[in-house]
Amino acid sequence: MPDTSDFSSDSRIVSQRKKEGIEIPLQKNVQARSASTHLEYVKFIHNALPELNFDEIDTSTTFLNTRFGAPIIIDSMTGGTEMASTINSRLARVAEKYGFAMGVGSQRAGLLNDKMADTYGVARKNAPNAFLIANIGGAQLAKGLSLDEIQKIIDMIRANALAVHLNPLQELIQPEGEPRYKGVLERISDLTKSVSIPIIVKEVGAGISGDVASKLEKVGISAINVAGSGGTSWAAVEKVRAESAKDRIKAHLGELFWDWGIPTASSIIEVREAAQDTPIIASGGLRNGLDFAKCLALGASMCAMAYPFLRHATESEDRLVEFTLTLLAELKSAMFLIGAPNIQAIKKSKYILTGALATGVKNR
Ligand SMILES: Cc1cc2nc3c(=O)[nH]c(=O)nc-3n(C[C@H](O)[C@H](O)[C@H](O)COP(=O)(O)O)c2cc1C
Repeated sequence: MPDTSDFSSDSRIVSQRKKEGIEIPLQKNVQARSASTHLEYVKFIHNALPELNFDEIDTSTTFLNTRFGAPIIIDSMTGGTEMASTINSRLARVAEKYGFAMGVGSQRAGLLNDKMADTYGVARKNAPNAFLIANIGGAQLAKGLSLDEIQKIIDMIRANALAVHLNPLQELIQPEGEPRYKGVLERISDLTKSVSIPIIVKEVGAGISGDVASKLEKVGISAINVAGSGGTSWAAVEKVRAESAKDRIKAHLGELFWDWGIPTASSIIEVREAAQDTPIIASGGLRNGLDFAKCLALGASMCAMAYPFLRHATESEDRLVEFTLTLLAELKSAMFLIGAPNIQAIKKSKYILTGALATGVKNR
């Protein structure tokens, strides 16, 4: 769960919040209700003459100078509890086996004690060669994190990149949240100069606009994860927590802003236009390999997914592997049907934007 609250709170409280951050998405329906990703408005053109064999389709790709087995990221989720340790271990083994990237959850909890740090560190133990992404909150950064602490966060998983999450909506609704975003961009700018690994800036489900992308590109970040609306709603998660805390105003705000945000497909299109030199990670409500293919066609370099990985990882490792194989089969099927032998070819494929995404045949 994205997290920015006070460093002085003890690890038990943080651990409890981390536990709820996993349990609420699993036990309550906190997915988007009226919002959608807008991916339903992206239609590929069927190719009746694909001129390729299904078993020769190549899903490998390069991102941030690294080769991946598929353009897939297990998006930042967890750490800080025993259950998180099991989940991170299972996700990491899948990332290692299939050549995916993987993010861990906000690592503030890992700074509090070594036992907590291990619940993130298991990701590296189980994925010695995978591309792992460390995670901190933007507001937490603005509040003050020393370079030593940032280095500790990176070293905890021997990270290949560091993600900074922007979660103003969540901070607003969270009972103990801190909606204080002054100075965040400047701190991100400092970070790009002081940290040697790539900095990825991500949302957590409300999307990145063209204006924000343009500001981020100017400060020299390495990639943007749009994490748009249409999937897990953090307003909804915090609404559930606000109800338990009997905070009626925050619970009301959580209900009102449940579907707030920029739909994922719209966010990719905006960011692609506004920050043409910055690679995009699609995320927010992606639920199958066809969604991935559409995001790649719109201009994303990688596709990330959070909640479905969590759900399957919680069931069992076998279910997680089966889910992963299904995702790959879906992606390859979409590639076969549009005649794309590799990921580069998806990026050049033709599609139609309908409904809310306007009309016309697009071929970038
Ligand atoms: C259980 C859970 C915990 C999450 N915790 C974090 C976090 O600690 N840091 C972060 O950057 N994003 C976090 N996220 C947000 C995801 O990385 C992702 O951006 C968002 O959930 C949209 O993807 P989805 O619709 O596939 O779930 C979390 C998501 C879930 C479902």
